[in-house]
Amino acid sequence: MKRLGVNIDHVATVRNARGEIHPDPYEAALFVKKKGADSITIHLREDRRHIRDLDAKKICSIKNLFVNLEISTNHNIVKNALKIEPKFICIVPENRNEITTEGGLNLQKNENRIKKIISQFKKKKIRTSLFINPNIKDIYLSKKMGADCVEIHTGYLSNLVKSKKNISKEFLKIKKCSILASKIGIEVHAGHGLDYKSTKILTKINEIKEFNIGHFIIGESIFYGLQFVIKKFKRIIKN
Ligand code: PXP
Repeated sequence: MKRLGVNIDHVATVRNARGEIHPDPYEAALFVKKKGADSITIHLREDRRHIRDLDAKKICSIKNLFVNLEISTNHNIVKNALKIEPKFICIVPENRNEITTEGGLNLQKNENRIKKIISQFKKKKIRTSLFINPNIKDIYLSKKMGADCVEIHTGYLSNLVKSKKNISKEFLKIKKCSILASKIGIEVHAGHGLDYKSTKILTKINEIKEFNIGHFIIGESIFYGLQFVIKKFKRIIKN
């Protein structure tokens, strides 16, 4: 069964644009869960441009809600995340000037640091995932580092779909990585830039067990509402 993770960072982006308290990401987490999301994702960025510490704390305390907390390898962020105790974490690269996460982690360069972070969370029985580009070397490295899951960066494929270009090479790359990861005992997730069309394409890869989708869901909800959009994604993922 494939799962839908809804990233609600941009609910906080809209709230912060006014510096007030509405719309509340905590309420959004409850609503999204009620409407069928299997988990929710929030990214506690170093500059706190959307989700803030108090949001993360409140959202992670919701009973029976699977929260996937995205974090960088920054020492203070890791320290905070260990205190917040989400159900899952996903380690992502972070660059202060980026608009959104650009590319996957450089596992080779950060091997020792990431390995240490994974073991800190595993001690607390928190599921660990690494956001990586679709390449075979990084699948083996993720296994070596002890990650439970990998989230494959689908941004490049999503852009090809949006610009109606040939996706076969990128699709095959993602498929091969997914098959290998699954074979060596790593759960496969996918995320970044996904919309209805690219998600439907990726559902053809049986090994992908979870889709994490944010910007498109919040954007599309302006027209059709969160409930409608979540239900539509759930139907796509199920088929
Ligand atoms: N997965 C990861 C690891 C991310 O960093 C992001 C963006 O925060 C997403 C998924 C969601 O991407 P999008 O907002 O483009 O759907």
